Parts: sequence; C-alpha cells; structure tokens
Amino acid sequence: MKTQVVMAATSLATSAAAAQQNVLPLPPMGFNNWARFMTNINESIFVDAAEAMSKNGLLKAGYDRLNLDDAWSTMERAKNGSMVWDTAKFPKGLPWLTQFMKSKGFIPGIYTDAGNLSCGGYPGALDHEAIDLKDFQDWGFEYLKMDGCNLPDDSEATYREVYSRWPKVISEASRPMVFSDSAPAYFSNQKNLTDWYSVMVWAAEYGQLARHSADVATYPKGNGWRSIMFNYGQNVRLARFQKPGFFNDPDFLIPDHPSFTMDEKKTQFALWCSLSAPLLLSADIPSLSKDIIDFLTNKDLIAVNQDKLIEQSTLVSQDGTWDVLTKNLENGDRLLTILNRGASAADLKVSWERIGFSTKALGNSNIQIKDLWTGKTSKVAASAGGITASKVPSHGTAVFRISKTASPVTATGMIFNTNTLKCLTDDKSGKVTWAACNAADAQVWAVRADGHINSLLRPDECIVDAKGKILSRHSGCRSDSWTYKISGNVINNVSGKCLTEGTDGSATAESCGYLLNEQVVALPVGVKVVEK
Ligand code: GLA
Repeated sequence: MKTQVVMAATSLATSAAAAQQNVLPLPPMGFNNWARFMTNINESIFVDAAEAMSKNGLLKAGYDRLNLDDAWSTMERAKNGSMVWDTAKFPKGLPWLTQFMKSKGFIPGIYTDAGNLSCGGYPGALDHEAIDLKDFQDWGFEYLKMDGCNLPDDSEATYREVYSRWPKVISEASRPMVFSDSAPAYFSNQKNLTDWYSVMVWAAEYGQLARHSADVATYPKGNGWRSIMFNYGQNVRLARFQKPGFFNDPDFLIPDHPSFTMDEKKTQFALWCSLSAPLLLSADIPSLSKDIIDFLTNKDLIAVNQDKLIEQSTLVSQDGTWDVLTKNLENGDRLLTILNRGASAADLKVSWERIGFSTKALGNSNIQIKDLWTGKTSKVAASAGGITASKVPSHGTAVFRISKTASPVTATGMIFNTNTLKCLTDDKSGKVTWAACNAADAQVWAVRADGHINSLLRPDECIVDAKGKILSRHSGCRSDSWTYKISGNVINNVSGKCLTEGTDGSATAESCGYLLNEQVVALPVGVKVVEK
C-alpha cells in the first residue's frame, strides 16, 4: 500500500515535470495591457479584449493568451503574506476573471517582480516565491512574467540567485507555469556585455521566455519605428539561444501606436513572425481597424511564427538600407525576409547562394515561392539567379516562403560580433578582418555542416587559424573546422582557440575567455549550437 502511494506520488511528480518541460512549445500569442494602458489596468480592459478577440478573428488565428501586467495589486500584502488584487480595478476578483477568460477559450497570465517592489512600485515577490506562485495558480493563472526591478543589488550573481528560486518552486508545484524571465533586460545595452550573455545562458535554463532588452514605446509616447528597430537589433544578437521551448522576447506588438505608419506596423509583424518571437499585442483591441486585424491574422505569416522548428531568422546581410534574413521551416521550405530601412521604395535581388542554396544543385529547375503578404505563389527559374523583391516600400518588409528545392541548404549569412556589430570580412587575398557590415559577398559566409566556413567571395577557400591569424585558404576546407557554442564562441577544432576581434579590426584566434566582448559572435541559424 505504502509503495503504491509513493509510486503514485512519484508518477504525479514526473508527469508534472514533463508537463512543465513542454509548457510552451511554440511562441505565445495574445494580449498584454502594458504598452497600451500601463498602470491603468482593470477588469474591463480584459473582458473587452476577450470579447473583441472572440469576434474579430484574433482568437481563432491563435491569439489565445490574456496577460495582466504590473499594477493589478494593492500596495500591501495581506496579513498571511499573500498579494491582494485591487478591488477598485478588479471588482469581481482575479479568480472570476481567469474563469471568464477560460470560458472564452483564453489562457490567463499574470505579472510580478523578482525584487522587493515591481517596476511600478507594487509589492515584489522576493522571499514570497512559494506563496505567490501558489496564489497565482490557485487564482487560475498559467503564465508568469517575472520582472527584474528593485532586486537587493544590481549584480549578475544576485539576479542569478533570486531568479533561480523560480524554476525550483515551479518544479515543486503540481501544475505547470510558463515562466517569462525579464532578467536579461537589466543587463542589456551596456559597454561590456559579459553579464548580459551570462544572464541569457541561465535564463534559457530557468524559463521559457527572455525579455532581453528595452521596453517598446508605450502609448502614445515615443517613436514606434525607432523602438521596434532597436529591439529587433537586440534580438538578432541572441539567435543562438532560441530553441524549442525557449524564446527570445523582443517585447510587444504595438499596432495602434500613433507614431507608426501602416508599413511600419506590418514590418514589426513580419519581423516578429520571421523571428518566431512572441506575438503579444499591446493595443486597444476593440478599436483596432480592419486593416490591422487583417494583417495580424495573416495565416501564412502566423504559420511561419508558429513553425515547429521555431528557428529565429538570422541575417544574411545588412548594409544600413537592406536587412536580409533567412531560416528553415519544418517541412523543408525556406523563409526569406527582406526589410527596407531606406527612405524610398526599391527592389532587391537575393542570390540563391545567399539564400543557402547551391545554384549547381538547383540545375534548371523552377523554384516555387509564395509572397506571404499577397498570398500569391509563382515559379522562379533557377537561371534567374535568385529572388527579387520588387517595390518594397520604405520601412516595409517582403516575406517569401520558398518551397523545398532540389538543393541542400547550407547555413549562410553574416558572422558578426554581437557587441561591436562588426562583420567578419574576407578579401581577395584571403586576409580576414572585422569591418562595418556592407552586404558584400566578402561578408556572407557559408557555415558548412562539417564545420568548414567559406565566404561567398572565395567559395573554394575556408577560414583557418594560421598561427593566430585568421586567413581564408584552400587548405582550410580540409584542415580547419569550427564549433559554435551557446556561449557565442566559435572555436577552431584544431587549435582549440576562439575566433576573436582585435581592437584594430584584425581577426585572430586567441585563447577562449569567459563570454568576452571580443569573442561572442552570431552565426547563421541552422549551425549546430553546442550547449556546454
Ligand atoms: C518593466 C517591463 C515592462 C512592464 C513594466 C511594468 O518596464 O519591462 O514590460 O512590465 O515594467 O512596470
């Protein structure tokens, strides 16, 4: 009898752990009040959002989360230590609200802060982790955003200790909880990014989401375009961390921010979909225009966001005007995303090699592509040399889904230092340096499955560690292969040295240090990332 009870308890614990492990296989989609309403949070915002999303097609399209942000509580805890919801804002109470949400087909989420006080000055969860988690779950919440204001001090060690309490209490609970970790945001945008990288490494172990950098512009202030370009720019530095069950979070979609043009709003959506980032709307849902609902419910783009591989598109090239990104999709298709940052509409052709294909392997086939904005499919002859995006509006983004071709895919794109943002650059003589990104063939690298790396300028030469100097040499395609680590280090398999950026822009191979600015590098998605 006793053994049976123990066994039953163990299997319950195992199934809870398994459920927690698989708690967020795909990027979350839904609504959060913060960027649109800030501390003016209340019951009717959520009730109205739920009603509107049920009617306007958002729920059906997959937006099924309703997340409360800061300022839902009173300023004091109850005598028993519990947080108390503000009855002026939530007259029917949070258990009623979560029940209501669930009855409409939504999953409720809540916010707190790992420190003494939230960013808005409400009680924080420090030293109340177990009671708060229990209350949130008893009230019906299944998603927890954990902000990082007001910790005892600003050190990485303190953040690590305080945040590490959460996976522990969550694993001890009988129900799973999505854990969104904002700690990285408190270490981003610094001159020395070592702490940011460290925090990202443990955030990927502790939870399912990392709010890694700045807040998007809050309504109606700020410059929407600048704000989303900034967050996108932070996200592309972190692609190596994204994996099934863990997502880089560049913050909310803000489709009704008044400073945005329609093309800019659509660009935010196209980029967030390409990145497989969370699609959490912070907008006044009942008053969103039909145009906005139409693009937010674009099935083809949502399919790319929710693609089971959940690869984060990475940069093929960047030159100040155009950003070109690619990634793989689960069925063998390839995604091509082309952002025009320039001041006027223009065309851009992207070659097959840049997309990751071999022109030779494509032979004389026709390649089927779908324009995900128009839904139109067309055939492009291999002889065309690549895909041309026509008349991409200023601040607009073209997205093409390329059906599986006869060519194998090689991870191809920029190799850049995620601190200086300098691009690894080949030259005709094979002298490799770090330079401002300019989209030249010398800066587009094929990272082959066997670990050899060649630029498109010198496709028959691969980079080698030549006594500490990085050169591209024919012999390199046999001798020198490289391994990419979750640390962001690119390690030479022969010398064991790390690809390094010198202060003079030289590319060298040096002893690997701990998450050093000069050694943390972004590689195109599809390259195997070694976790330890
Ligand atoms: C921080 C977060 C925001 C929001 C506010 C609430 O700034 O980054 O997303 O949660 O706190 O105070």
